[in-house]
Amino acid sequence: MDMTVQPQSTLRPIDLGGVVLDTPVILAPMSGVTDLPFRRLARRLGAGLVVSEMIASWAMVRENDTTLRMAEVADAGGPNAVQLAGCDPDAMAEAARIAVRRGADMIDINFGCPVRKVAVGQMAGSALMRDEVAAARLLKAVVEAVSVPVTLKMRMGWDHQNLNAPALARIAQDVGIRMITVHGRTRQQFYNGVADWAFVRTVKDAVDLPVIVNGDILTVADARTALSQSGADGVMIGRGCYGRPWFLAQVAQALCHGTEVPDPDLESEKAIVLEHYGMMQEHFGPRPGLRLARKHVSWYSAGLPESAAFRAAFNRIETVEEALDAITAFYDRQIAQGAVRDPRQSRHDNAEQAHAA
Ligand SMILES: Cc1cc2nc3c(=O)[nH]c(=O)nc-3n(C[C@H](O)[C@H](O)[C@H](O)COP(=O)(O)O)c2cc1C
Repeated sequence: MDMTVQPQSTLRPIDLGGVVLDTPVILAPMSGVTDLPFRRLARRLGAGLVVSEMIASWAMVRENDTTLRMAEVADAGGPNAVQLAGCDPDAMAEAARIAVRRGADMIDINFGCPVRKVAVGQMAGSALMRDEVAAARLLKAVVEAVSVPVTLKMRMGWDHQNLNAPALARIAQDVGIRMITVHGRTRQQFYNGVADWAFVRTVKDAVDLPVIVNGDILTVADARTALSQSGADGVMIGRGCYGRPWFLAQVAQALCHGTEVPDPDLESEKAIVLEHYGMMQEHFGPRPGLRLARKHVSWYSAGLPESAAFRAAFNRIETVEEALDAITAFYDRQIAQGAVRDPRQSRHDNAEQAHAA
């Protein structure tokens, strides 16, 4: 096996001023997915940075209980970013102050969310990419409100006629943003088409800031290609972590140290699924925990023999004890049979359905 990586793919630590990302391999913010249990697990397994689900600034300012729980940070031991969305600079500034008081090491601002309610209704998310003056005012307000690094996540632009990510990146740099992540799609693409990693180079060339490339990174080879096409300083991975929170560590090991790390064997995977399930019960309580964990269990089991039947039965289970028994029995059967995962049935296939949910 080739144990080396291409020189242009070697990642180096990123110093954001006060916060250092030792391995710039970042878990993407994903509403309904990157809750605290998932972030804790990804961190424990080797993510270089974890980012909260998008938090609405107005809800944060009202100190809404559910929102504060969403913004809770993983334990000490690595940087935690809280991502904020909103259109009112004062509310965003106040929300950032609250997040930092509650332990955030970094604040990320969302200019990427294409969801209509977020993007258009309130002029937040990717809609802010259409108004560079409002965008600058908002970014500046947050940077001035907190002493921790503030970062920005955006798409390439609203549509292919308005690819203004490089211009916005310069604006962001001027007001003190420390790092920029670009998802290589436009807002109008939603999740259609493929991420344009080469476009990210135009953002990298426009600023002196670290730039992170995001979108459609599903393998270590994808991460290498995304980095060499974009010239970016790190990668952010979302759907590629569905059912495999260890993927970030595999990418980090390959791109930072040149080491190929195999997937965990089924015994280790079973332990991770049970650990994840337990964390979700603890965090959300039995009923919501049961419901919210279903998609994760479905992603973990994808590609294993008889996983469709397992998922159908699992989704009808109503108690935590039964659920734990079902996971254990499923994996024990796979282990006893020496099962091999079918790589064609990717965990990522369900991504769009999950996002629509
Ligand atoms: C279910 C889901 C929820 C998402 N929620 C957020 C979010 O809260 N904030 C954000 O900036 N992006 C969000 N995104 C976008 C991802 O962070 C990422 O930019 C996008 O999925 C492309 O990366 P990927 O191909 O590695 O998944 C979400 C994506 C998905 C699939």
